[in-house]
Amino acid sequence: MNLKGKHFYNTADFSQKEINYLIDLALKMKKVQFKKSLSGKSLAMLFFNPSLRTRLSFMMAMEKLGGVGLDFPIKEGYTFEFKEGTIMNQKTIEHVKDAAKVISKYSDAIAIRSSDLITSNSESVQVSSWDKLKQDTVLKSFMKYSQVPVINMESNVYHPCQGLGDAMTIKEKLGNPKKKKYVLTWVYHPKALPMATPNSQLLSACDLGMNVVVVHPKGWELDKGILKVMEQKAKKAGGNFQVSHSQKEAFKEADVICVKSWGALKFYGNWEKEKKIREQHKDWIVTQEKMVKTNNAIFMHCLPVRRNVEVTDEVIDSKNSVVIDEAENRMWAQMAILRSLIKS
Ligand code: CP
Repeated sequence: MNLKGKHFYNTADFSQKEINYLIDLALKMKKVQFKKSLSGKSLAMLFFNPSLRTRLSFMMAMEKLGGVGLDFPIKEGYTFEFKEGTIMNQKTIEHVKDAAKVISKYSDAIAIRSSDLITSNSESVQVSSWDKLKQDTVLKSFMKYSQVPVINMESNVYHPCQGLGDAMTIKEKLGNPKKKKYVLTWVYHPKALPMATPNSQLLSACDLGMNVVVVHPKGWELDKGILKVMEQKAKKAGGNFQVSHSQKEAFKEADVICVKSWGALKFYGNWEKEKKIREQHKDWIVTQEKMVKTNNAIFMHCLPVRRNVEVTDEVIDSKNSVVIDEAENRMWAQMAILRSLIKS
């Protein structure tokens, strides 16, 4: 399998054979001694937003592979221009075209987190429309001009490393996940969160050939184009994909319950209006009462989690909860990505 030099923006850019190869490589690396194949190699990490897991797991992944992951404080750097042909006599100081090429000379891959909705604020931040955000200008610009692989550490639209880490966790816990029931449920959260994670989590479950259900209140539909890809991917892998509005129905006989909140697409740029409707859905929390309807499902959450808002302590601290292994597996999945993409 030759993936050298490719960007890792969205798992859907890869064939199901390639995704399964990466999952199996990650599982193997977790179990057996491996070669430090990235000795002398470096990863430049640019975080435009906060992170705990992604930041540390990428650093540790590079360390374990014999290379170095350098977290450049990009927010203290120059402000970038993204438009082509701009007369740069205003606020922006450096064109991404130059920055991407320069960083490519210092490193063997560039990993970027750039999402308008990931903040440390307690309240939702105002953003542009979904049509604008889904262009993923920062990631796409770096991918255009970089001369080394660009890895998406979460953009507005996708969080492929979370998707791959989750798929690895599902295979690790369930064995062969084909035709098993995977449910991703929207839950109440006081803030409007991005939808990159559910997009990538669902795409990965579809790639595994699972019977996938996404359940959310009416009004919280995911992007139509991405839903279509999920449907196609599930069918191709021998599973199916459904949308539901009833948690009670969806949880029946589920093998995996994955929890995530996100902001409603049509209210991007107007969270005040969304918040009033969202507040009516505080009963969208995962409780033990709901979990007993499942087929003894494992419980997944990408973290960070608002305990007793998204899920009760009883569920997240239960023996069915795999959230800590899920976070650990981010590192192994990223090691498989780094080893496969970086040219030796
Ligand atoms: N799940 C996840 O991406 O966590 P961080 O935001 O802490 O990186």
